[in-house]
Amino acid sequence: MIQNISVLGAGTMGHGIASVFAMHGYRVNLYESFDKVREGVMQQIWSELQFMVEEGYIPGTKVEETLSNITIYRELGPAVEHADYVIEAVPENMQLKQNLFQQLDNLCPKHTIFASNTSSLPLHEMTALLSEERKTRTMVCHWYNPAHLIPIAELSHFGNMSEEVFNEVYELYLRAEKQPVKVLKDIPGLIANRMLHALAREVFSLIEMGAASPEDIDKALKFGPGFRSATTGMLEVADMGGLDVWCTVENTLFKELSNSDRACGMMQDKVAAGKLGLKTGEGFFSYPEEIREQVKNDFNRRLIIQLKASRNYT
Ligand SMILES: NC(=O)c1ccc[n+]([C@@H]2O[C@H](COP(=O)([O-])OP(=O)(O)OC[C@H]3O[C@@H](n4cnc5c(N)ncnc54)[C@H](O)[C@@H]3O)[C@@H](O)[C@H]2O)c1
Repeated sequence: MIQNISVLGAGTMGHGIASVFAMHGYRVNLYESFDKVREGVMQQIWSELQFMVEEGYIPGTKVEETLSNITIYRELGPAVEHADYVIEAVPENMQLKQNLFQQLDNLCPKHTIFASNTSSLPLHEMTALLSEERKTRTMVCHWYNPAHLIPIAELSHFGNMSEEVFNEVYELYLRAEKQPVKVLKDIPGLIANRMLHALAREVFSLIEMGAASPEDIDKALKFGPGFRSATTGMLEVADMGGLDVWCTVENTLFKELSNSDRACGMMQDKVAAGKLGLKTGEGFFSYPEEIREQVKNDFNRRLIIQLKASRNYT
């Protein structure tokens, strides 16, 4: 049974993953090679936990309890030597991940299960330098950002591991109050990001053709398809609407939709001009310095409202 967890990389994803497991009572070793990130990460986790307390999602006692379950490491060996489950969240670079897994193979006990939070790299390539035995205990466990607030975790079951090992990890995610999705094919983007970017392609295309203002395009999503997506899946919605109706609409509409094989030109122009969104103050919308913190907090607050509501429908 998984008890000791090691998280590698304490950046955008790693610190949130560590926080979730620690909040659910697991001992978490958090390894980070960059001094500045390592020194600031406990403060960051503390402030996110504190925000959840202020929003009434967790009791105040959870803050200290969670923090006391996390130990920060600057050396890999001691961070993983007793691990039952290691998840890496280092930058998306094939060579980096391959080398890290190879090191882990020598440092971890035989029973340790390895996982990668990769967004796009194929599992069989990341595990190329691993022993055959360890390949049967290695998988993708893909979280969504912000990791401490978004329930989904996509867990790979690509045929390289036993049902028993997979179920051990599946149980772990259930105990951490995540919504694990079993992914059966090693396909780029797995399930959730493929659906997201199929939708995003059309959103960006609508913007480029001037079909509606940016505000109205986002409003149409939030109060239309997105509104029901939070509670009801696409296949359930199609069944409710009637598959004959969906067939008729799709036969007309699909040939009208964007089938672009690259990011939309308008977005590429913005990137070239340094308009990267919230972090630079301008993207599709504008974010003066004085409102940026508030924008982030409002985003997190809405996610917490959604999380609380989801307790009633999951
Ligand atoms: N950011 C997202 O929205 C998101 C969502 C899902 C999955 N992912 C995936 O998660 C992984 C991490 O992404 P991120 O956004 O957290 O990156 P990040 O750059 O924010 O964090 C990576 C951290 O790893 C550290 N690091 C670098 N090399 C290391 C090493 N050898 N050992 C230990 N730590 C090392 C860095 O100092 C950094 O703090 C990537 O594979 C990414 O594709 C990201």
